[in-house]
Amino acid sequence: MPTVAVTRVIPEAGLRLLREAAEVKLWPEELPPSPADLAELLQGCDGALTLLTDAITGDVLDREPGLKVVSNFAVGYDNVDVPAATTRGVAVCNTPGVLTETTADFTWALLMAAARRIPEGRDYVREGRWLTWGPTLLLGRDLTGATLGIVGFGRIGREVAKRAAGFDMRVLAYDTYEDHDAARELGATFRPLDDLLRESDFVTLHVALTPETEKLIGARELGLMKPEAILVNAARGPVVDTDALTAALRDGTIGGAAMDVTDPEPIPADHPLVSMPNALIVPHMASATVATRDRMAEMAANNLLAVLRGERPPHIVNPEVLERRQR
Ligand code: DGY
Repeated sequence: MPTVAVTRVIPEAGLRLLREAAEVKLWPEELPPSPADLAELLQGCDGALTLLTDAITGDVLDREPGLKVVSNFAVGYDNVDVPAATTRGVAVCNTPGVLTETTADFTWALLMAAARRIPEGRDYVREGRWLTWGPTLLLGRDLTGATLGIVGFGRIGREVAKRAAGFDMRVLAYDTYEDHDAARELGATFRPLDDLLRESDFVTLHVALTPETEKLIGARELGLMKPEAILVNAARGPVVDTDALTAALRDGTIGGAAMDVTDPEPIPADHPLVSMPNALIVPHMASATVATRDRMAEMAANNLLAVLRGERPPHIVNPEVLERRQR
């Protein structure tokens, strides 16, 4: 039986599949393994099921030459040095598709909560400040008829666009690859990023984190946005320059921000962003539903086991590794 490492407790749906086919070394703690603990956990393993909190570098892979697959429990895989894995013949897998709708739904939850100031309303009641109905109390922004700018028009961005139809929104999209058929079908129009930022009332982010998208939204870009605009980050924290965003929210350059992800992540509770009334931060939970996390666990396990069986996994990031093995 092969031996596989699992770097955190994942839903039973995935663990069961792994246990049926492999010896499972499970990291049982709530916090991720330290680099030293990770090295120990991976020792002698044929495969690893990893999380976005595990840095899988060339050094980590060099220590375990027997490792054939790193199967990430996420659609994003910026925690894995893919070129290093490819050079070493290690397959890298991810979990696309199964979390698309759930993440798009949550993007809307963030957008609506920020637009209609729901967290502030809840605090208002909890703090005993609700004394009467007020004509100007906690006024928010309308979604209906507003302009939504979607940055990253892949699977999740498109699902976000689909949901905008219910609010009669004008939808703008930015992506380095422009799929005009998809845009037409969803009633979206591609715009250069600067124009999208200038024209949108709400901007949602869905790009993968790469060297090109790191700090894609910085002081200059925030400065282009409308003073009442709301930014929603459902991608990765480093896509937004945290210092620039903090300044923009403090100075009223933009109206508000809602973030599922932060840089650093987790963001310390005493960071100025956390206590700003116009910043809504939640702990990277956009894909966190029971059914979606079960599907992610199954997919990550199936990807991993397929590689170990010498089969093509359903979702591989670097297929050239398999092609090379077959030659
Ligand atoms: C992902 O899959 O990349 C999310 O960030 C976690 O579900």
